[in-house]
Amino acid sequence: NRRTSRLSIKHVISGTLVHSTAASRMEICPKRIIGVDHDGKIVFIDNASCMEELAERFGFNERDVITLKENRQFLMPGLVDTHIHAPQYIFTGTGYDVPLLQWLEKYTFPSEARFANKEFAQNAYRKVVERLLKNGTTTASYFATIHYDATVVLCDVIAELGQRAYVGKVCMDRNSPNYYIEGTEDSVKNADRIITYILGMKNPLITPVITPRFVLSCTSDLMKKLGSLAKNYNLPIQSHLNENKKEISLVKEEFPNESYTAVYDKHNLLNGKTYMAHCCHSTEEEINLMLERNSAVAHCPTSNFNIRSGVADIRHYLNKKIKVGLGTDVSGGESPSMLVAIRDCVKASNAISFGKSEEFTALTYEEAFFLATLGGSQVLGLDDKIGNFEVGKDFDALLIDVEVPDSPFDCFDADDSKDAVQKFLYLGDDRNIRQVYVAGKLVTGEDFKTQSEVVY
Ligand code: GUN
Ligand code: FE
Repeated sequence: NRRTSRLSIKHVISGTLVHSTAASRMEICPKRIIGVDHDGKIVFIDNASCMEELAERFGFNERDVITLKENRQFLMPGLVDTHIHAPQYIFTGTGYDVPLLQWLEKYTFPSEARFANKEFAQNAYRKVVERLLKNGTTTASYFATIHYDATVVLCDVIAELGQRAYVGKVCMDRNSPNYYIEGTEDSVKNADRIITYILGMKNPLITPVITPRFVLSCTSDLMKKLGSLAKNYNLPIQSHLNENKKEISLVKEEFPNESYTAVYDKHNLLNGKTYMAHCCHSTEEEINLMLERNSAVAHCPTSNFNIRSGVADIRHYLNKKIKVGLGTDVSGGESPSMLVAIRDCVKASNAISFGKSEEFTALTYEEAFFLATLGGSQVLGLDDKIGNFEVGKDFDALLIDVEVPDSPFDCFDADDSKDAVQKFLYLGDDRNIRQVYVAGKLVTGEDFKTQSEVVY
C-alpha cells in the first residue's frame, strides 16, 4: 500500500553513478536513479527516465528527488581505508627522517602513549574520525593503542559520528619501551574486554578486529592467544607484514626456519579474515601462502614512500587474484585522505614499471579507484554489504561536485563525466565531497532534500 511504501524510501538521487563492478574496475553510468530505504539499503537502481513509474511503485514524491548536474556531479561509493592508526593522526606530516623501527621508537610510541589519558583520546579521536568522514572515508579499519579506555572512546566517537569501522586494540608485549608495553595476560584480557564492549554496543557498523602490532612487538605466547581469540569469536585479524628490510631480517633471526608470513600462519593468525598492511617484500612462496589462506593485502603506498619501506607490486598480487585494498596508514602516510592513497598507488605502480619490461602494465587510476572502494570491501569481507551500488547493499556513498566555489580545479570545462571523475581523483579534495552517506545516513555535508537540483 502506498502509504507505508512512501515511508520506506528515504533518499532518491538521479544522475551519474560511478562504481566498480565484477565486470569493470570503473563503470560510469549516466542518467541513473537510485533509491535508498530507511534502513539505509539500496532498493532500486534504474534509468532516470523511469522516475515517474518508480515514484508510483515506491511511493516517493518526485519533488524530493536530488537531481545531479550532468558532467559535474556524480555519486560514487564511500572510500574504504583498510589500514589507519587513529592515534597517529596527532603527528601526521612530521617525523619522516628515519625508517620504520627508529620511527616507531622516536615518534610513534611516545605519541601513542599519550592515549593513556582519556580526555586526550577524546579530543584526538573526534578530530580524526571527523576528518576521515569529511574526506569521504565511510569505512575505516583502525589500529587504536594498547589502552582499553581510549579504545572505548574511539568506538564511542565512531558510533556518534556514524562511521562504519573495524576497531582493534593494539596488542604488544615485547621490544617496546617500558612506558608503552603490556604484559601478555593483560594484553589478551583487554583485547577480550574490547571485543565484548564492541559486541555489546550492538552497532551493526562497528566490528572488533584482532590486532597484534607485528611479530617484533609480540611474543609467541601472545600471538597464539590472539589466534585463539580470533577463532573463538570468529573475528577479522589485521597486522603488518614485510614492510621494511630491517624488520624482516630481525624476524628471520628469531624464526630462521620460517618465512615472516609463515610465522603468522603458525600462530593461527593467517586465514580468510586476515589482512596484512604493506607486503612490500613478500617472496613468491609467501604470496602463495597468503593465496592459499585467502588472506588479503592492505596496500599503503603513501607510507611506504614516506618512511622508505619499499614498493609493493600490486599488479602481481592482482594477477594472482589476491584481495587488495588501499590504506592511508596514517601517520606513516601523511594524509588521512584516500584520494592521496589512490594517487600514490598509481605512482607506486609507475615506479615498479621502471624496473620491468615493456609488457608490464602499471595500475591505472580506475584500478586504484577499485582498490579504494570494492577492493577494500573485499579485504574486509564486507563486499556483500558495501563497495559499489547494488540493490540490497547499504548506501555508503559520496556526492561529488567538481565545480564547487574555490574548486581545486577551477578551469574545468567538462563535457564528459570521465574527465570529471579523473579530475576529482587526481586533483579533488574534501571541498568536492558535498555529501557523505553511511548506511543511508547523511554523516557529512548539507541536506539538499528540498532542492530539485544541487546548485550553488
Ligand atoms: N609496524 C609496526 N607498527 C607500525 C606502525 O605503527 N606503522 C607502520 N607503518 N608500521 C608498523
Ligand atoms: Fe601501519
